[in-house]
Amino acid sequence: MFKRILLPTDGSELAQRAVLAGIGFAKELGAEVIGMTVVPKFHTFTYKAEMVEETQQEYALHSAQRADQYLAAIGEAASRAGVPCSTEKAVSDDPYQMIISTAHDRHCDLIVMGSHGRRGVKGVLLGSETQKVLVHSSVPVLVYR
Ligand SMILES: Nc1ncnc2c1ncn2[C@@H]1O[C@H](COP(=O)(O)OP(=O)(O)O)[C@@H](O)[C@H]1O
Ligand SMILES: [Mg+2]
Repeated sequence: MFKRILLPTDGSELAQRAVLAGIGFAKELGAEVIGMTVVPKFHTFTYKAEMVEETQQEYALHSAQRADQYLAAIGEAASRAGVPCSTEKAVSDDPYQMIISTAHDRHCDLIVMGSHGRRGVKGVLLGSETQKVLVHSSVPVLVYR
């Protein structure tokens, strides 16, 4: 039934657990996976142009490098499991929108994501991105706890 599963990660421990569960599930189903991560946009808070420029470059480099590491880890785990995998990196301040649009554009029939991410499990039933994906996605969502 599920042939192409989207695995979004913010690089957190909880998201990584969901990714591994999603890869295990894909293996059982004979499905492929698409690992994805959404990098936040850079915002300028300072008026000193030189500083902004340098900071912006560093920021972009570091967040892109981190994103590449998250995606490489998904690729390696999928490869160990013998699950076909591709990856996608997006830049946006609204991860849930990119998760939904990537699922649509890449013809995924399931999204497997963590119940929480970087901000962790304290106090809230579900992380904010997960809540918004659940509300707005027309693609089925499996929330991994
Ligand atoms: N920037 C992101 N890129 C891709 N997936 C994300 C991103 N942020 C969150 N997710 C997905 O949403 C899940 C829940 O995260 P989130 O709703 O942000 O919880 P929290 O509020 O605890 O950070 C994560 O486990 C991950 O699957
Ligand atoms: Mg979060």
